[in-house]
Amino acid sequence: MKYNNMTGFPDDFFWSASTAAYQVEGAFLEDGKSLSIVDVNINPNFADTSITSDHYHRIKEDVALMKELGMTAYRFSFSWPRILPNGRGPVNNEGIDFYNQLINELLKNGITPLATIYHFDLPLVLQQEYGGWASRKILDDFENFCRVLFENFGDRVKYWFTINEQSNMFLLPYLMPVNESSDISAEKQKYEMNHIMTLAHARAIQLCHQLVEGGKIGPAIGLAPNYPASCKPEDIMAARVANDFRTYLFLDLYLYGEYRENIWRYMLENECEPTILPGDMELLKSAKSDLLGINYYQSRVVKYAPKEMASRDFTVNKDGQKGSTEFEILPGLYQGAENPFLEKTEWDWEIDPIGLRVLLNELHDRYHIPMIITENGLGGIDELTVDGKIHDAYRIDYLRKHLEQCQLAINDGVQLFGYSPWSYMDLLSTTSGFRKRYGFVYVNRTDDELKDLSRIKKDSFYWYQNVIKTNGKEL
Ligand code: BG6
Repeated sequence: MKYNNMTGFPDDFFWSASTAAYQVEGAFLEDGKSLSIVDVNINPNFADTSITSDHYHRIKEDVALMKELGMTAYRFSFSWPRILPNGRGPVNNEGIDFYNQLINELLKNGITPLATIYHFDLPLVLQQEYGGWASRKILDDFENFCRVLFENFGDRVKYWFTINEQSNMFLLPYLMPVNESSDISAEKQKYEMNHIMTLAHARAIQLCHQLVEGGKIGPAIGLAPNYPASCKPEDIMAARVANDFRTYLFLDLYLYGEYRENIWRYMLENECEPTILPGDMELLKSAKSDLLGINYYQSRVVKYAPKEMASRDFTVNKDGQKGSTEFEILPGLYQGAENPFLEKTEWDWEIDPIGLRVLLNELHDRYHIPMIITENGLGGIDELTVDGKIHDAYRIDYLRKHLEQCQLAINDGVQLFGYSPWSYMDLLSTTSGFRKRYGFVYVNRTDDELKDLSRIKKDSFYWYQNVIKTNGKEL
């Protein structure tokens, strides 16, 4: 549906861009920081996390470019092992200093900080000591980490995201490791961790409301809406089920404090239900999010999977070889399929701007909560030309089409208060190193060669600059 008279983006709309600590900062063992689980589990075929974009040493230069771009907000994450190298206990003052410098520099330049508390980088010591998210011991440690953040930065940081992409961590074992030698099935371990992580999220929400005056907080969730492969009723039901398992399991827990009935029944029948202790569900219900961050890159297609099929995990496209993605199969529930109507990126991610409008409307109807796009972008192989330019028309096209759908969603009535694409600058891709780039700003390095790490503005930088300048009137 189109409108004859379109409303523009709100005047106070956040024009932002995103990064995460382990992907940009580097300095992974500097000034007191200890290792995180990502530092040791990242894909060994690409660059490691030791230097990445070297943002740790280039705050002023990087924020100056944000200012030049016109950004009114910036989403970054705090590194837990930089702030608390033992996961708990003594606070690392050099870590606090680093984030103070960053936040102050942002504010000095009129850029509102949007802070993610947890973006995959659990202190390795906590994984080794008690299995990380597998143990309820993490609840006190995570709350303590949040307290340190709120007490040190809550006077200036008012927008918070508790946990990045709990939904995707659930699928990716290197982000939420299971204990292979345990007698407990991997599936049950995952649901246990998911429950514990949701409790941690709820405690963070409550603490933020206590400690941060005027603070707004909520989750940032990674979502890919599932379409049915056909109008066959079995496929329609399969798509519903896929959305329940991959989207609403998490969002109903976060926003209603409830397990979906059908998923709870599935967990009971498959003996993988999490342990619920007295007080858990009351805690989840009482923790009210103020906002919801959406990470959206693509949609998915599913069809019914007969019970007799062999199950298969989702396999991320192997090192950027087009066509190597394997869709997941959950026998009796659903299986992934291709979408013949959509183009794909080099990494097989199906490009679907309209899917973003569909998703935003679904979420609005269901939860009536203010939302912000916390990630959206195109991972591509950018070429630096001999005269030092990056002509990334494909990225501009991707972002423009998604922003058009955001504007339509706003006209549909969705409460969308910002757009923070992935990523502000080139950074270490979680799955594919520096070969796969997302930034508006090119970072002059490759996986194998460090080069001079200089910052180069891509064509998309100038395009986004004009979008911001015209408050989205010129896309
Ligand atoms: C999201 C993460 O899943 O997608 C980011 O929050 C990640 O950390 C981004 O980098 C893109 O994924 P990838 O694998 O292409 O880096």
